[in-house]
Parts: sequence; C-alpha cells; structure tokens
Amino acid sequence: MNAKVREVFTLRGEALKLGEIVGQGGEGAVYDLAAHKNHVAKIYHRPLEQQRIDKIRAMGKIKTESLEKLTAWPTGLVCSKDSKPIGLIMPKISGRKSIHQLYSPKSRRTDFQRVDWRFLTRVAANTARAFAAVHDNACVIGDVNHGGVLVAQDATVRLIDCDSFQVSYLGQQYLCEVGIETFTPPELQGRSFSGIVRTPNHDNFGLAVMMFLLLFMGKHPFAGRYAGTGDMPISKAIEEYRFPYGANAAAVGMARPPSSPELAIVGPRLTKMFEDAFSQRGTSAGRPVARDWVAALAELEANLKQCSANSSHWSLGSSPCPWCKMEGATGVPLFSTVVPAGGATLFDIAGFQRQVDAIPHPGPVPTVSEKNVTPDPNALKIKGHARRTNFRAGIAAAVVGVAGLMMAQIWVAGIALGVFLGLRGLLNRDSEAAEYRRVAAEAATQWKNAQSSWMQRAGPDAFDRQKTVLAALRREWDILPSKRVARLSELERNRRQAQLHRFLDNFEISSAKIESIGPGKKQVLESYGIETALDVERNKLYSVPGFGPKTAQKLLNWRRSVEARFVFDPSRAIDPRDIAQIDQDILGDRKRLQGALILGLEQLKQTRAQILAAREHSRPEMERLRLVLDQSSANVAAISG
Ligand SMILES: Nc1ncnc2c1ncn2[C@@H]1O[C@H](COP(=O)(O)OP(=O)(O)OP(=O)(O)O)[C@@H](O)[C@H]1O
Ligand SMILES: [Mg+2]
Repeated sequence: MNAKVREVFTLRGEALKLGEIVGQGGEGAVYDLAAHKNHVAKIYHRPLEQQRIDKIRAMGKIKTESLEKLTAWPTGLVCSKDSKPIGLIMPKISGRKSIHQLYSPKSRRTDFQRVDWRFLTRVAANTARAFAAVHDNACVIGDVNHGGVLVAQDATVRLIDCDSFQVSYLGQQYLCEVGIETFTPPELQGRSFSGIVRTPNHDNFGLAVMMFLLLFMGKHPFAGRYAGTGDMPISKAIEEYRFPYGANAAAVGMARPPSSPELAIVGPRLTKMFEDAFSQRGTSAGRPVARDWVAALAELEANLKQCSANSSHWSLGSSPCPWCKMEGATGVPLFSTVVPAGGATLFDIAGFQRQVDAIPHPGPVPTVSEKNVTPDPNALKIKGHARRTNFRAGIAAAVVGVAGLMMAQIWVAGIALGVFLGLRGLLNRDSEAAEYRRVAAEAATQWKNAQSSWMQRAGPDAFDRQKTVLAALRREWDILPSKRVARLSELERNRRQAQLHRFLDNFEISSAKIESIGPGKKQVLESYGIETALDVERNKLYSVPGFGPKTAQKLLNWRRSVEARFVFDPSRAIDPRDIAQIDQDILGDRKRLQGALILGLEQLKQTRAQILAAREHSRPEMERLRLVLDQSSANVAAISG
C-alpha cells in the first residue's frame, strides 16, 4: 500500500491518525489509531473494488451483540483525503495468539503455558461458538484458516479478517473468493473460488478440521500414510474422503501417522461427528453444525479426568493415557510443564520406610518334626518269620549237603543250595514286605514334594525378595536429588548446543517462506511432528509421506541458512524451560517410584499374610504326611532290621 498514508478519514469526515502497524496480511496492513485505543484501521494494499466497499457497508448494518463479542466485525469504512474508501475500522483485538500457536505442541508450550487438553477442548467449543454466531447472521466464513482465529489465555476466541467473509444483506450476496486447501471441503477441492457461493456446510468442513487440529495435537485429519502408489497430498485425501483416523481408513488405503492418537480418544459422540464431517455423508446430507460441536465439546470437557502419572494430562480416562502413550513414543512433551508446588515431596519417605520396617519378618520356615512311631506289629512279624524261614531252609539244605558229603558227590552241594533257596522261597512272606517298601517309597516321594512346596509357600524367601525390591526402589528414590544435579550440570556443559537448539526451535516452518513448501506440505510436516527448523533432519523428513530427497534438501538448506545466523552468547543464562523440563522428568520419576513403593509395601504385606496363611492351613497336611513317612520308614526298618 501507500506506506506514506499517515492520516485517514471516517465517512463523516473525522480525521484519524494512523499509529504503529499491528499486523500485515496479503490484502492489507492493520494500524493502531492514535485517538482510539480500542480500534484499529486496516488499510488495503490495493484500491478497493465496489463489491468490497458495499460489503463493508453491509457488515456495519448487520452488526449484532454476538458478532461484536466473538469477532473483529468492521464498523465502517475509512477514506483517503480525496474521500476514496481505502480501508475499514474494526475493534482492536489484543493479547491473543493465532489458534495455530495453541494447537502445535511446540508453540503451545511457549505461548500457552499451563494449558492442558481441557483448555484445548474449551477453545474448540469457543471457536465453534464464534462460527455459530457468523452462521446465525446469514454469513459464511469461507476462507477458514488458522490465521483468522485468535485465542486468549482465558480460552476465549475472536475471529478476524471478517471483511473476507461471505455476507448476505438485503438479498445481496457479497462473496468470499479465497480459501486454503487444507480447510476446503471435498466438493470444492481443486475448483476456483471465484463466483462460488459458499455455504455454512462448506464452513462446517473447515470447522471440523480445526476441531481436529485442536484435539489431536496439531495433526491434520487428512495427513497420513497412503498404501497405494503415488503421492497423497492433503488436498487429494480430502477430495477422495481418505480419512486416516476413520473406521474406514484401511479400506481407503490410509494409515494415521505413527504415534498419533486414535479417533476414539474423543469419545463416541465426537468420533461420530468427525466421521460424519469427513465422509461423503457430510457432503450430501450435511456435516455437524457449529452448535453440535459446542454441545459435544462441553460434554467432553465435563468428562475429562487427570492422569495419575502426569498431572498435565487430561483425557477420558482410557488406559493407557493417550498422552503418556504419545509422549512415550515421540519423546516430545505435549503440554507445558506443570510442577505442582511441593506436590511430590508430600510423600513422606521416612514415614514410609518406618511402615516397611514395622512389618515383622515371618521367620524361618517352621520344621515339621519327626514323629515318635513304633513299627507295625505285622512288620515285626514279617521280620521274625524271615529269620525262621532262613533257619528252616538252612536245616533242610544242611541235611542234603551232609548227605552229599558223605556220598562225596560235589553236585549234591548244588542241590543243597537249591533246596535252601527253594524252601525259603516257598516259606517266606516277600510280597508283604515289598508292599511295605512300596508304601514307604511313595510316602518319601510325597513328603519330598510337599516339603518343597512348603518351603516355597511357608518359607520367608518371597518376603525377603520383596524387601530387596523395596530397598532397590528406595535407593533409586534417594538418588533423585543427585540425578537432578547431574542433569543440570550436563545442561551447563551443553549450553552452546542448548542455545542453538532453542534458536532453531524459534523458527516455525508454518510462518517461514521455503521454496516448494506450501501450506499443504507444511501441514503434513506438522502432522508428522516437524514444526520448527530444529525438527528438520534428513531421517525425520524421509519418514514423512511425499518428502523425497529433493523436497527434503530444500528444507535442509533452509535449516542451514537459519543455523548460519546463530551466535552463541556465553553470558546468557540457561533457558528456564530446559530446567523446567528436567524438573518435570524428575517429578515423573518421583511419581513412578512413589507408586512403585506404595504398591511394593502392599505386596510385602500381602506376601507376609500369604506365608502365615500357608503355615496355618498347610500344617495339618504336613503333619499327616510326616507321620505317614515316619511310620512307613519305621515299618521298612523293622522288616529289614
Ligand atoms: N482487529 C484486529 N486487531 C488487532 N490486530 C489485527 C486485527 N485484525 C488483524 N490484525 C492483525 O493484522 C494481521 C492482518 O490482518 P488480516 O488477516 O485481516 O489481513 P489480510 O491482509 O486480510 O490477511 P489475509 O491475506 O490473510 O486475508 C493479522 O494477522 C493480525 O495480526
Ligand atoms: Mg483477508
């Protein structure tokens, strides 16, 4: 535009002094107004067409309370000295950031500290509310994009760039003839916007995309991996209804980016709304409208629960926590660090240790002592009988033997032995003795088995093992402070690297001008977790669908050009966010250990109770088996003694 313009005029001829530029867009620059703190003037770069002039006039007429509250609705035209309209006046929106800064995890941690999924849900609902206000007044946003939605730290939302909206007034349609492909519905993909009358249902597609970006950590609903051949840019995926998070994803050859959450994390009602918004049904029968989102998101927010492992995680309570899972897979924290003041130190480790020590050791495994038994009378009889049998057979054999000697026949000795053995065999009670031995052997085996299970269940080993586990956890707990110190000094040693990383992390791809990287490609990169110059690494880029060596090189060159501008400042303190990250990690360890210790103590108590119960309830059976063993061995001893 006319950079020299310093003064403009209202239609009534009031002179307005332009102050500082507060923002620039493709169509115009926005200025502070010296005498009107609550208003700004947008001065167009090019002369205004009559259509636009009429639209701004019409907008001034249909201003409503809700539009005033939720948008930067133009209030009138401003003219040059020669009374030609060159811009508009609108309320000044300050203290807000683009919605993009909120839904991208990296910028969120800097620009929206201390926000969690509840906040994102609320902002989503407020965005839908603003859309509803526009639709209620027969207007259509048309060019839905993240630059047009500004969010405050209290989660309220204001729409800007309203002069590009499609406005209906007194039977006249003032069109919106622009749009961004990543927010454009399938039915308009690839078409020129000129002369197209936009409908709320077109907006409702862009709205659903924005809802998705907010709830799914900046991932675009149509960025995914395509199983077929060739590229599948976002615009094509939208046009062909290839929604990688949908129930139909596999059928349309799509898979969601690795480590992205599944659609179900938003609950059944919103799952269905996303499915409806992104399917053919949405085009033909209508997509969920803005007020549907308001109601469903309010319900979602009301049902969110805090994760027990990480206090900055809120979800519907599915297990595992979707954010723990995602952070675990990517190593990138999704929300700003929340270190509750003194939160984890409330755990009284000394008191806890006293509880552990107060649990009495169950003592050694009790012995089941030998029983005083007397051998079976029958067994004793078998023993006497055996002696008598030997005696009788011996006599008979001796008689034969002596006869043989007298006949000087050596073979008679053989017969004598035969007589001895034969008679002994006829007279003895060997089968009964064998039965005693079998019973004794069986009793010995049973006793051996019972005893090893007794040692296991009634012995103190399990208790001792559990105490070792607790002691190891305790040692881990005790070294947490030194672990923190070690990590801090490592931070100190790696200051140059850390400063470089921070520097690179400040360069967002979304707002950079990079050759061959348009909004569609930028959105894909974001959906794969590549947000800033720091994330631009060859390997990472190769894992993003549609990024071959050529495109990757363009990004790498850009990163190199950014890196070349880095100057290390040794006097700069360590970034507090790096320290906060360490504290967050240590806090995570602390919580994990605290949980493990509490669980471990419970297990120790249970183990002890189980040991004592085993002693009490298995004892009678042990006593019985011991008796059987001792009795049967005494019997065998009696037989063979
Ligand atoms: N009402 C407002 N109050 C304060 N700042 C504003 C306001 N409206 C716009 N801005 C700032 O000015 C910038 C440009 O505004 P706007 O988007 O309306 O311009 P544009 O030229 O129409 O942009 P585009 O090319 O995206 O259509 C915005 O990004 C924002 O930073
Ligand atoms: Mg505009």
